[in-house]
Order: sequence, then structure tokens, then C-alpha cells
Amino acid sequence: MSAQLSINTKKITLYNGNKIPAVGLGTWQATEDDVAYKSVRTALKNGYRHIDTAAIYKNEEQVGKAIAEAGIPRNELFVTTKLWNADHKKVEAALDESLKKLQLDYVDLYLIHWPVSINPETNKPYTDHDFVDTWKALQKLYKKGEKVKAIGVSNFTIKKLEKLLNADGVDVVPLVNQVETHPLLTQPELYDYLKSKNIVLEAYSPLGSTDSPLFKNEVVVDIAKKNKVEPAQVLVSWAIQRDTVVLPKSVTESRIISNIKTFTLSKEDFEALNNLSDKFGVVRTCNPPFNNFD
Ligand SMILES: NC(=O)c1ccc[n+]([C@@H]2O[C@H](COP(=O)([O-])OP(=O)(O)OC[C@H]3O[C@@H](n4cnc5c(N)ncnc54)[C@H](OP(=O)(O)O)[C@@H]3O)[C@@H](O)[C@H]2O)c1
Repeated sequence: MSAQLSINTKKITLYNGNKIPAVGLGTWQATEDDVAYKSVRTALKNGYRHIDTAAIYKNEEQVGKAIAEAGIPRNELFVTTKLWNADHKKVEAALDESLKKLQLDYVDLYLIHWPVSINPETNKPYTDHDFVDTWKALQKLYKKGEKVKAIGVSNFTIKKLEKLLNADGVDVVPLVNQVETHPLLTQPELYDYLKSKNIVLEAYSPLGSTDSPLFKNEVVVDIAKKNKVEPAQVLVSWAIQRDTVVLPKSVTESRIISNIKTFTLSKEDFEALNNLSDKFGVVRTCNPPFNNFD
């Protein structure tokens, strides 16, 4: 039987009351020429209202151009960008640069991209500055309420979140933690921890990233066939059913259009995906060397 697919318009409420569209377009590796511009343009024409970019993706100008041309009221859009590791000592200047490229007065969400503060001169971690200091700079901007409407982190483990939350001078809990998660990396402890702290989990690489093993996984493929949907729609729908934000990336028009169409998985299929790594092992695709500095 065909599943009932529809454009997903679900919004998740952050603990400050702001609402974040549950499906957002990922834009990592959409850098060359006008690839990100075209992707964002296609996405906005086809129901997306949430775009995820980052200074290091080198496509904020393209994203900004597509947003400006779309003519969608600003308050209907949710735009996230991220502070790069080498900019931890100049948060406001880096944000201003991103805003300029995005042609925006504010971003809806500003994230510390990685819990690693790197000295750009030595390419090594600073000895006198870490992500707690960086977070305090984000807190200041958030409290002013002008250039950032929400702040959060990315790639933070429970241990790092605990360090952050227990640090002197930290009085804003991150609204979001953006981490890799998909059926081969369900992160159950982190998932429960974030729920307990009211921190929204954003699922990055939700399709398993480039050359994903998930598209060939027999369980995913069977669920897709049974419901007459694409494997990617199974994966996005699973993330939605788990109550996370989900950021599928594509630069292919037909995929951008289909990835935002979701359906409700049966209880059995949802459970089969929850337990996929028991059978096929845990797979993490994103683990850059700088993340292991400490
Ligand atoms: N915070 C962080 O550190 C971090 C790290 C990684 C990612 N992210 C964010 O999360 C987003 C998503 O993660 P990701 O880019 O790693 O990977 P992803 O969204 O899991 O997968 C993207 C890959 O899947 C392909 N794809 C997309 N839709 C498809 C479909 N319907 N059928 C078959 N293949 C499909 C894409 O190909 P085409 O593009 O060629 O169509 C691309 O190769 C990123 O773009 C970024 O915004 C954040």
C-alpha cells in the first residue's frame, strides 16, 4: 500500500518559545558556483522554510541571494549559521560577516560549530580559551536579542554539555544541539539527556551523508518498497517521528522536492529503524581529526 506523503510543515518549539521548522535544508558541500543558490531557491519554492548553513560551508552569499530573491516574509523563515573553530575569539565579528553575506539583520539560530577553539595562527587549540568562553560571547549576543534569536551548540557530547552547563557565568542553556544521527547512529543516551534538558536535537547527516550505506540497507529499502516511497523519505520520516529537527541535504532538484515529503511509519517499522545498528553496527560518518584534540 502507498503511504500518505505530504509536505512536512511541523514546527518544534524551542524552550524560549521560538518555533523551528522540523525539516531544514542542509547545505554542506554545496559550495561550487551557484549550487547552494539553486538548491535553496528550489527548496524555498517547494515548501522548505528552514535553511542550515555555516561560515565554513563557504556558501552564505549564495544562500543569502536565494533568500532575498524568494521574497518570503522574514518571520516565516528560519535561518541557521555556525561559528567556525578559528573564530572563537571574535564571535561578534564572525557573526557580522555571516549576516552580511546572508543579507540578513539576524539569524534565527547561531551555533558553535564544534566544541574546539583553534588558534588560526598555529592551527592548534588555544591554551587560554575554550568553548565555555565562546559560549559566554554567544550568551551576550543572545541577551541583546538583535542579531541572534536563539543560540546553540553542535557536536557536543553529554560530557561537554555538562562542562558548559556547570561553568561559572553560564546562565543560558543551549536551545539546540546539532549532531549526527540516523538509524545507524541513534545516540540514545544523548537523545534522552537532551530531552531532559529541553534542548532540541537537530539531526545532521540524517541520510547517512555522502555515499550513505543507509540507501542500500535492506531494512530501509524494504520499508521504502512496502510504502512505495524513497529510502530518503523513510529516513526523514523516522527523524520526524523521533521528534527531532532533521536536515537532509541535496543539490538535486527532484530529491530536494521529495525529501520534505514525509509519512507516518508503522510502529513495527519505526522500531526496526530504532534498532538498526544492533544488526548492522554503529556508523559515524563525521569525525574530523580536530574533534579529538582534547
Ligand atoms: N554541524 C555539523 O558539524 C554538521 C556536519 C555535517 C552536516 N551538517 C548539516 O547537516 C546537513 C546534512 O548532512 P550531510 O550533508 O552530511 O548529509 P545527508 O543529508 O545525510 O546526505 C546527503 C547526501 O545524500 C544524497 N541525497 C540526498 N537526498 C537523496 C535522495 N532522496 N536519494 C538519494 N540520495 C540523496 C545527497 O546527494 P545530492 O546532494 O547529490 O543530491 C548527498 O550525497 C548538512 O548539509 C549540514 O547542513 C552539519
